[in-house]
Amino acid sequence: MYSTLLTELENGILTITINRPDKLNALNKDVFTDLNNVVDEINNTEAIKSAIITGSGSKAFVAGADITEFGGLNKEQAMALAKRGQDIFFKIENSPKPIVAAVNGFALGGGCELAMACHFRLCSENAKFGQPEVNLGLIPGYGGTQRLVHLIGKGKAMELLMSAHMIDANEAKQLGLVNYVTTAESLIEHTKKILNIINTKAPLAVAGCIKAANAVFDETKNGFAEEIKEFGNCFVTDDMKEGTTAFLEKRKADFKGR
Ligand code: COA
Repeated sequence: MYSTLLTELENGILTITINRPDKLNALNKDVFTDLNNVVDEINNTEAIKSAIITGSGSKAFVAGADITEFGGLNKEQAMALAKRGQDIFFKIENSPKPIVAAVNGFALGGGCELAMACHFRLCSENAKFGQPEVNLGLIPGYGGTQRLVHLIGKGKAMELLMSAHMIDANEAKQLGLVNYVTTAESLIEHTKKILNIINTKAPLAVAGCIKAANAVFDETKNGFAEEIKEFGNCFVTDDMKEGTTAFLEKRKADFKGR
């Protein structure tokens, strides 16, 4: 179904593995097409409650955009490439279902940008993050200048963007770029543990959290107004009735996602 991704659905969690280990899972056109399609699959498949994005092999999550595809592009083509990457990463960020990055090694350039487009991140002890584009005479093009500032603050982001300095897992945790650092062996298991909890919650309420939290960073929206709207939307769902009734009846809620 996908030429560059492996997918496995278990207990409502779709694990997506970018599978170009000999190229450190670099993002070429095919990976972008597959990522675009897999987000559609996540959004349109009832059995999928949430997803994990990780990389194949023990060395890299994603070592960046595929540099071999940069040769010979003119300015307009380069802008179109950045726009396509940004659109797909927006699609991940705006998915109503949680999509989490399990960073299992290098997350450089487009790899760091992909991880940052996910709703949150975990990483293994050997993970390394960076935006090394200035080494190539470039800047990030898939949202890295924006999301890095949002996630770790302008001062540190400026340093990393301008110096191409790579940070390790512990520094990424300290900076708030990742929520947890695990051993390589337990990375997926730990990520699934968190998603298994989220998957027991009311799906439309989870989607509302994503929408309202994303509005913080969307200049076309007023986040507080978005919160009011999403709060109101919850009140016309069966799940809100079920959640409040279950609480009062001292039993576990059985959410249906409607
Ligand atoms: N695009 C295309 N190919 C890439 C790539 C990328 N971003 N990153 C790695 N590869 C390829 C290498 O060319 C190499 O291919 P080859 O075996 O056919 O020569 C293979 O993946 C393994 O990479 P290699 O560089 O040999 O591994 P390493 O352990 O010596 O170094 C890195 C690992 C991550 C430090 C190094 O690969 C690197 O700096 N990659 C580019 C990172 C980058 O600048 N990303 C931003 C792009 S905008």
